[in-house]
Amino acid sequence: MAVGIFDSGLGGLTVLDAVQKRLPDVDFLYYADSAHAPYGVRDAENIHELTRHAVNDLWNRGCELVILACNTASAAALRRMQEEGVPEGKRVLGVFVPLIEALTERQWGDNSPPREVAIKHVALFATPATVSSRAFQRELAFRAIGVDVEAQACGGVVDAIEDGDMILAEALVRSHVDALKRKMPEPQAAILGCTHYPLMADTFQAALGPTVQVFSQGTLVAESLADYLQRHPKMQGNAEGGFLTTGKPEFVSDRATQFLRRQIKFQAA
Ligand code: SIN
Repeated sequence: MAVGIFDSGLGGLTVLDAVQKRLPDVDFLYYADSAHAPYGVRDAENIHELTRHAVNDLWNRGCELVILACNTASAAALRRMQEEGVPEGKRVLGVFVPLIEALTERQWGDNSPPREVAIKHVALFATPATVSSRAFQRELAFRAIGVDVEAQACGGVVDAIEDGDMILAEALVRSHVDALKRKMPEPQAAILGCTHYPLMADTFQAALGPTVQVFSQGTLVAESLADYLQRHPKMQGNAEGGFLTTGKPEFVSDRATQFLRRQIKFQAA
């Protein structure tokens, strides 16, 4: 029995780590499309095609529920996949809704009309593809009115983290925060809208200042998934847990082991 977690690469391990801590009795089948990462610089059509392929693979392996940990896939592919139709008994969910529910102080699944919320100025940090999709703003508009969102495409950060160059990643984060602050000098909240950015949460917080509330996804997605599985216990499916990659399993296993600081063994997808 395993829930599928899909990511373009290793960043989704930040989400996996949080959901495993929250749900220690649930198995997860993690799928990293490392051969095609990062997604954030690809066009929407290509992201949709790659995401669809990976999610089909997870469904075919017995996962009933697949979580798109990748923000870029959630932004560029999720809504289209849901509109195209999902096979009977299967489900695919993304990472924006739990985040937006927290930002707008809504309970899980509260679909009441959009309303005024306390936070009015939001900085969104994400990949170029997520920013250009405007998916975050679209989902927010279903739930809140009067919120000003300024988005900053954080080119280069994912590559620097994947390469393990944290000095470069920190310098890029600081320069992206400076660029954002030129457009919105006093954000009240900041969204770390990419699976890799929680690894840089301290740098974002330091550059933004202590008054900015920084939202990152791991724990929010974990809470939302716990709630969902309580309501839909059968969605745990009959797949076996583990780690799959479209890249080179040994290389990806080494990087993932460094990332999570525990032994991870990937197999070829
Ligand atoms: C990427 O694949 O470019 C980053 C993953 C994400 O957007 O969360």
